[in-house]
Amino acid sequence: MAKARVQFICQNCGTAHQRWAGKCDSCGEWNTLVEEGTAGGIGSGPGSLKSARKGRAVTLTSLDGDIEDAPRIVSGISELDRATGGGFVRGSALLIGGDPGIGKSTLLTQAAAALAARGHRVVYVSGEEAVAQIRLRAQRLGVASTPVELAAETNVEDILATIADGKRPDLVIIDSIQTLWTDLADSAPGTVTQVRAASQAMIRYAKSTGAAVVLVGHVTKEGQIAGPRVVEHMVDGVLYFEGEGGHHFRILRTVKNRFGPTDEIGVFEMSDKGLREVANPSELFLGERHSKAPGAAVFAAIEGTRPVLVEIQALVAASSLGTPRRAVVGWDSSRLSMILAVLEAHCGVRFGQHDVYLNVAGGYRISEPAADLAVASALVSSLTGIALPADCVYFGEISLSGAVRPVAHAQQRLKEAEKLGFGRAVLPSGSGELAGGIGAGSFQPTALADLVARIAGSRRSRAEETD
Ligand code: TYD
Ligand code: MG
Repeated sequence: MAKARVQFICQNCGTAHQRWAGKCDSCGEWNTLVEEGTAGGIGSGPGSLKSARKGRAVTLTSLDGDIEDAPRIVSGISELDRATGGGFVRGSALLIGGDPGIGKSTLLTQAAAALAARGHRVVYVSGEEAVAQIRLRAQRLGVASTPVELAAETNVEDILATIADGKRPDLVIIDSIQTLWTDLADSAPGTVTQVRAASQAMIRYAKSTGAAVVLVGHVTKEGQIAGPRVVEHMVDGVLYFEGEGGHHFRILRTVKNRFGPTDEIGVFEMSDKGLREVANPSELFLGERHSKAPGAAVFAAIEGTRPVLVEIQALVAASSLGTPRRAVVGWDSSRLSMILAVLEAHCGVRFGQHDVYLNVAGGYRISEPAADLAVASALVSSLTGIALPADCVYFGEISLSGAVRPVAHAQQRLKEAEKLGFGRAVLPSGSGELAGGIGAGSFQPTALADLVARIAGSRRSRAEETD
């Protein structure tokens, strides 16, 4: 009998090692190697086949040709449809990741109910909760009477046999992949081998039958899908469901989509009756604004195709520490260091003796470099104690030389600001014509130093006014 070969698989990145070690050489994580048998399993790969069969020729074709639009199943929950790029695609597999308790099961229960109510066959398979728990949630959401087909099961073969029964489902939801296991792999559920094999089986099912499959995955504290990062590469789309503890809004963010745009977001609010769509996120993020305080600047952001206004708050305070503290929530901390360095080197603003705290209001997370100008303004405002004008929005990228560089979608950002009652903007020069309501009092600096001088100068002119 062939000796069962043993491998050590890193649970973080999926790399196979011959020997156990404390640290994975590939991703640098500690204590992630787990012994997994590979004999006869899916992980064994083609190399283990005794005799290779003769290959079969496939037809080669050209790039040009008839294409069909991806057939989609629209849920009618417009924030969800927006994030998926217009609805679930038939025959595709989608991974929805998020921290435990963020609302993945709630969102998918609502989506399942909405689709079932529209006449689609929807199967919801839960490996985490008992049927009674899911029923309780459905009751709370007010969707208990919709014809969603429900099962509490974790074995892939049993799930596939169950859904093969009757009419082909339009949507199959698996909550979650970490609980699935297949007979083909002999590792414990949740290990990379199991998760990969089980996902592969579900993805194969989607491709071969044309049903849309949604897989739920848990995310670790570091923001990675726990263990099975490998699954991200196998599926057609990856959505992350995010939110900050203490805030009740949730963001569904597209990070991969083979059938539509990425960087799209859907915004929801968690209420006692489930997730509610938020059609105008700017109003939500600007809701609790204290416009008179120094250190706050409103940034006109673009998320996918949609403009969103968010407040950036900075606090610069004298430090008693040898190495002053820099803390950032909702933005990139190395980007903050860069802005601080540019302010010191090109604008003569010193932060060396100060702690710097930066926060994006409402628990929102920004990834655009266009936020540079708003961040710099908030920092200067807090350091000088001069409040920025309340009716002004900021956007623009700052280069290491201290120049303010244009960013994309200037008109869209301005239009959103105007819609929400802002009267002026600070933006890069060369951003095109200013829109109707925004114009007078706007400022288009070419260098960051000009903006710093203007903010500092506003105290002088205000003091003169009150004299
Ligand atoms: P859940 O969907 O179970 O999260 P996940 O599947 O991502 O682990 O959501 C759990 C949280 O949501 C729980 O703390 C309770 C809260 N919740 C509400 O606030 N309102 C609701 O209507 C529901 C169903 C859940
Ligand atoms: Mg859940």
